[in-house]
Amino acid sequence: MHTYKSLYLCSVAKYVCKFCIRLQSTARGPSAPLGARLLTNPEDIFQHNMWDHVQWTEEEKERAREKAEDNSSVHIPLAEQGKFDTEACGYWDRFYETHRNKFFKDRRWLFQEFPELLPLRLRSPLADVSQAGNSSSGRTSETCQDHSSDPPPQHRDADSPVCPTSVDAQAAHGEETLVTSFPGQHADFRILEVGCGVGNSVYPIVKSIKETGAFVYCCDFSPHAIQLVKEHPDYDQSVCHAFVHDLCEEGASFPVPLQSLDVVMAVFVLSSIHPARLQAVVNRLTTYLKPGGVFLFRDYGRYDLSQLRFKKGQCLADHFYTRGDGTCVYFFTRDEVRSLFTNAGLEELQNLEDRRLQVNRGKKVVMHRVWMQSKYQKTH
Ligand SMILES: C[S@@+](CC[C@H](N)C(=O)[O-])C[C@H]1O[C@@H](n2cnc3c(N)ncnc32)[C@H](O)[C@@H]1O
Repeated sequence: MHTYKSLYLCSVAKYVCKFCIRLQSTARGPSAPLGARLLTNPEDIFQHNMWDHVQWTEEEKERAREKAEDNSSVHIPLAEQGKFDTEACGYWDRFYETHRNKFFKDRRWLFQEFPELLPLRLRSPLADVSQAGNSSSGRTSETCQDHSSDPPPQHRDADSPVCPTSVDAQAAHGEETLVTSFPGQHADFRILEVGCGVGNSVYPIVKSIKETGAFVYCCDFSPHAIQLVKEHPDYDQSVCHAFVHDLCEEGASFPVPLQSLDVVMAVFVLSSIHPARLQAVVNRLTTYLKPGGVFLFRDYGRYDLSQLRFKKGQCLADHFYTRGDGTCVYFFTRDEVRSLFTNAGLEELQNLEDRRLQVNRGKKVVMHRVWMQSKYQKTH
């Protein structure tokens, strides 16, 4: 009989464990983008690091549900929860102080999955979901290291970082109604990446949009992260503007006018924010999109390996946990993503659950990963 541990970190050194994974992705082939490497022959499992569109059996779904129920059966007492919200910026800032730019990988898959990041005239006609109703079928490689089991940052006692406040942000950027002159004001295509970290998406974008008339803005509430973005050799102020900004700070404005952005992108960011705050964040970001502009979203999905790995005592609210270093993570369902964006007045272009089987060929271990990938458009 298999334990939970064996279900999610199933060591299958000498044999393929049919109890743990259904080895046929789908006989019909992929019905969605996000890669097309299908595992049809169980014996091939260790031939690749990742298999796409893996369907879960009813038994697997039930075990995942039970595991999440178990690790969230004890919530951190409410009286102790406040710091994860009020000091979120500090936790992330210490994360970047410790890991600098060594933790996340460059998002090389960006333009395959999100062709909307390029002005329409530069896109391949086949690769545009907002025009064709579907997307490219490129592979999205490993998107985000799982840091749920990371040790806490070393410098817990270091001085608190200077986190942005609404006053700082407004003083720096001016009230949105007064934004008349701003970085990128002459661009004909504007992208904003929120929660950009150290720029793993920004640098690939900067390289691609040079001399296209496009401009990318990027923000994060961690001053250390933004400093690292600006120190990168590819940082180029003629196409990029990085700034410190807390998405949860309702009074803080952006250095661009309302309705001036073609794209807002959030990659593994909204999961860091308490679910009760999310709707206000998405509503506010939506006000900066032009009519026709698109919100691109990629993040953790419900019952991803990293959710099931949490131990009891790390849960703050349903499907919302804190890691050892104080940073937090939520695990989304498709319905929740749909509500979040449609409640903000956006129209759905894509809302996918990206289910993969990740294989550690060296250790002969297989893991179920679940990520969400969605695109929502402002139609008016
Ligand atoms: C998992 S990291 C992802 C970083 C980056 N998007 C990437 O894909 O590499 C989450 C990021 O969101 C940022 N973040 C979390 N909450 C935020 C908030 N309220 N305002 C701005 N940034 C925030 C963190 O500082 C961190 O850089």
